[in-house]
Amino acid sequence: MNMPPAVLVIDNLSLEFPAWRSTAKVLNGVSLRLHPGEIVGVIGESGSGKSVTALLSLRLLAEHSYRVTAGQLRVLGRDMLAASEAQLLKVRGRDIAMIFQEPMTALNPTRRIGRQMLDVIRHHQPLSKAQATERAVSLLRDMHIADPEAVMASYPFELSGGMRQRVMIALAFSCDPPLLIADEPTTALDVTVQRQVLLLLREKARARNTAVLLITHDMALVSQFCDRVYVMYTGAVVEHGPVHAVMAQPQHPYTQGLLAALPGQARPGAELHSIRGQVPDLAELPSGCTFRERCDKAMPACAQRPLLRGHGDHQRACWLEVGP
Ligand SMILES: Nc1ncnc2c1ncn2[C@@H]1O[C@H](COP(=O)(O)OP(=O)(O)O)[C@@H](O)[C@H]1O
Ligand SMILES: [Mg+2]
Repeated sequence: MNMPPAVLVIDNLSLEFPAWRSTAKVLNGVSLRLHPGEIVGVIGESGSGKSVTALLSLRLLAEHSYRVTAGQLRVLGRDMLAASEAQLLKVRGRDIAMIFQEPMTALNPTRRIGRQMLDVIRHHQPLSKAQATERAVSLLRDMHIADPEAVMASYPFELSGGMRQRVMIALAFSCDPPLLIADEPTTALDVTVQRQVLLLLREKARARNTAVLLITHDMALVSQFCDRVYVMYTGAVVEHGPVHAVMAQPQHPYTQGLLAALPGQARPGAELHSIRGQVPDLAELPSGCTFRERCDKAMPACAQRPLLRGHGDHQRACWLEVGP
């Protein structure tokens, strides 16, 4: 099968935050790619570099605070690491949209929703005020918001968390971007609302053939909403593949640990499993496999860094052999 060209390509990317005493090596050769219309999860414990990867994809990290030491990052073929500020202003919103965990920080608290939506819509599209209003209303309707006019007349604080996140998704789709990056978009919401919001996001993405990078620390969300998944640890991918394959036969001990921590996996009443130990200090990363100090299956070979390998599209960075 011929794959269409990738929407997002991150290839062997390494990034550090230099500081006076020590340098945090936050990304260490991360590689991932997204094809049109795919919904792809990125999962890993806190501190594994998920948000830094997302922010760098839009070049939203404070310039001069970080250093890219290797690799490349392309969006629709464009080298994002070399893009000028003027190019970035065009790319953001039009080619890539981003949704964050807490929409209160992305929305201006002092302005009504409608005015903020019109600003975003008219930034990239030459529409009259009336046309932009029409567009805003239809975007909100697509998010199954029954009374778009009332929402547009509201201030952000007057809406529930779930409603604010629906507004953010509507805004993210306003210019029909081929790529949407959602960083823990529903972590602040309760489980029922979380599910509703992600169902809407997926419905909209499927209808527009939008590629979605869904960043989460919740394996249950990945299994429900994603086609493929990348598992990140200390700024690198340790396993990736189709969600059904990774869930059914996780190959990396780290992925196995994340899955064992899922509530559904434990017997009722049994204690939830968690991976022992902690993510290592990124300023003093061990050489070799960075997971080996926490791994029950570590062996002498783990002193060398394992590269991604595997059959077909399910790969892991681990020296262990997997059964047939
Ligand atoms: N601006 C920054 N300066 C220094 N270190 C940072 C900065 N932003 C993130 N980090 C560090 O990078 C690591 C990865 O962070 P992040 O990408 O937010 O992790 P995740 O989203 O997977 O929880 C963390 O150790 C974090 O402290
Ligand atoms: Mg994060």
